[in-house]
Amino acid sequence: MTTSHGAASDDDSAEPRLQEQFDATIARDQRIEPRDWMPEGYRRTLIRQIAQHAHSEIIGMQPEGEWITRAPSLRRKAILFAKVQDEAGHGLYLYSAAETLGADRADLTERLIEGRQKYSSIFNYPTPTFADVGVIGWFVDGAAICNQVPLCRSSYGPYARSMVRICKEESFHQRQGYELLLTMMRGTDAQREMVQDAVNRWWWPSLMMFGPPDKDSPNSATSMAWKIKRHSNDELRQRFVDMTVPQAAKLGVTLPDPELRWNEERGRHDFGTPDWSELKRVISGEGPCNEERVARRRAAHEDGAWVREAATAHAAKQAARSGHTRVSQKLQEGTAA
Ligand SMILES: [Fe+2]
Ligand SMILES: [Fe+2]
Repeated sequence: MTTSHGAASDDDSAEPRLQEQFDATIARDQRIEPRDWMPEGYRRTLIRQIAQHAHSEIIGMQPEGEWITRAPSLRRKAILFAKVQDEAGHGLYLYSAAETLGADRADLTERLIEGRQKYSSIFNYPTPTFADVGVIGWFVDGAAICNQVPLCRSSYGPYARSMVRICKEESFHQRQGYELLLTMMRGTDAQREMVQDAVNRWWWPSLMMFGPPDKDSPNSATSMAWKIKRHSNDELRQRFVDMTVPQAAKLGVTLPDPELRWNEERGRHDFGTPDWSELKRVISGEGPCNEERVARRRAAHEDGAWVREAATAHAAKQAARSGHTRVSQKLQEGTAA
């Protein structure tokens, strides 16, 4: 089967009609559901995107999770605990969405820990201070909101619906981060410096979260034609900058970009160019924490093997027992007849 949009395979005469129906559904802005026919390229693109998204949620638990035992108060610990747990939930919704496309969850996990599938570059940076927890909430969850709100209208039903709940939780995440930073900014000079330092370290990696510039993002156009993706990387990055600048002013921190300024004509902010070679390095596995993140995920998977084995043994026992019950019921029915 060929994967190009609108093309049909030789061995399936029904496919041109199915392709027309698919195209019409996309054109009407309606949803494609798991039972519907879809081009192989659409299915593969979605599995790759949803898996990458799911992996990001799960790996994303690590940088902040490191602070759960060291949070400065019970209140902060409870908030951080809830937030990190939400991220696990997001990962699970998304793995389920990938399963509706025929992907196998165990296989996706294997691909992640063997480095054959990616996760967001942002989680390969370290979290040396508690201000990092606040800045991750503000920037990283903020960027996730910019990315994910339009995905609530993505053309694939299960993905779009999982985004609705995820986005509600992400906005709580962003607020808790910003509120934490507001509190630190009302504290001591040392706390204010800690916030500014975290802002300096996270700003550029956060802009890179939207992916390479549009001119270097060849798959984007197809994803937009299929309405999996609704806006380009550059457009989403611009939205994030425009949203964040006034928040930085209110907080009293400086965003580390000398080229950042309001452009009256465009009605948007101009800003500098991220170091795209850094993004390439981090994506290819050479970020500051890539090895550590994947090793930790692999260890967690291996440590959990006994749970999976126990659950499988239990399910088999239940199935055997209900099979046995059915047989004895039939025998009883047989003797009664
Ligand atoms: Fe999340
Ligand atoms: Fe989040």
